[in-house]
Amino acid sequence: MVIARTIQELKEARASLKGSVGFVPTMGALHQGHLSLIQRAKEENDGVVVSVFVNPTQFLEGEDLDAYPRREEADRLICERAGVDILFMPTIDQMYEKDELCIGAPAIRGYILEGEKRPGHFDGMLQIVMKLLNLTQTTRAYFGKKDAQQLALVMQMVRNYFLNVEIVPCEIVRDEKGLALSSRNAYLSSEEKERALCLSRSLKRATKMVMAGELDAQKIRSEMLEVLKEADEVEYVAIVDRAFRAIEKVEIGDTIILVAAWVGKPRLIDNIWI
Ligand code: PAF
Repeated sequence: MVIARTIQELKEARASLKGSVGFVPTMGALHQGHLSLIQRAKEENDGVVVSVFVNPTQFLEGEDLDAYPRREEADRLICERAGVDILFMPTIDQMYEKDELCIGAPAIRGYILEGEKRPGHFDGMLQIVMKLLNLTQTTRAYFGKKDAQQLALVMQMVRNYFLNVEIVPCEIVRDEKGLALSSRNAYLSSEEKERALCLSRSLKRATKMVMAGELDAQKIRSEMLEVLKEADEVEYVAIVDRAFRAIEKVEIGDTIILVAAWVGKPRLIDNIWI
C-alpha cells in the first residue's frame, strides 16, 4: 500500500493504478462502516484509494474539530489489511490555500435538516469532496446512506458539474444492538450508548407502523418522538421523499425517515430508507 501525503505523491501513485478504481473518502477513525465501503470498493474495482482527512471547512465554529478522533496508525493498519492500494493522508496546507474559490450547497436542499442545524457544513463538505474526486480521478466513489443528505448533495454535485465518477450509495452498518456506526460514537459513555439506541428504535417503530399500513407522516413522527424521549435533545425527526421534500404520506420506495438527536456529548444522526 502506498501512503501519499502530498498531492504529487498521490498523483504518482494514482498513475500506476490500472483498470477501474474505487474511492472511499473518510475523516479517519475508521470503523466497520468504513470497512464495508472499502470492501465493496474492492469487490467492484481493480484498485482502491482511501483518503483520511479531517476537513476543517465542514466543521462550524464551536464544533468538535479539535476533539475529532484521530487514529492515524490504526487507520493505516486497517487499510493495509483490507488491501487498499493508496491511502491518501494530506495535511491542511496540501488541500487548501487562502481565499479560495468556493462552491456552495444548493439554496433549498443544502439548508434544510442538517444544513439548517449546521449552516455552512455542506459547503465545506462539497468543497473537499470536489477536490478529492478531482485528485483521485476514480471510476466510482463510495458513500454511506447514514449521511443521507450528504450523499444526495454529492450526487447532485456530480450531476450539476458533470463529474466523471459514479457515486455508489452503501447501506448503513449497525452494531449488534442496532446503533448506527459513527466515529463520534467514541464520545459515548456506556450509559449513553444504551440511550443512543433510541434513535434506531424510533426508526424501527416507524418501519413497523408503515408495515402495518400506517402511512401518515404526522402520526409516525409523534410515535417516534415518544421513543426518542431517552435522548437529551431531539433536533429533528423528518419524513421526506428521496429528493428531500417534506411529505405528508409515506410512499414506499420513495421515502427517507431521518432523525438527529443529542445523547451526552455527541450529536447523532440516523435514518431509514423506505
Ligand atoms: O462523511 C465524511 O466522513 C466526510 O463528510 C467526507 C465525505 C469524508 C468529506 O470530508
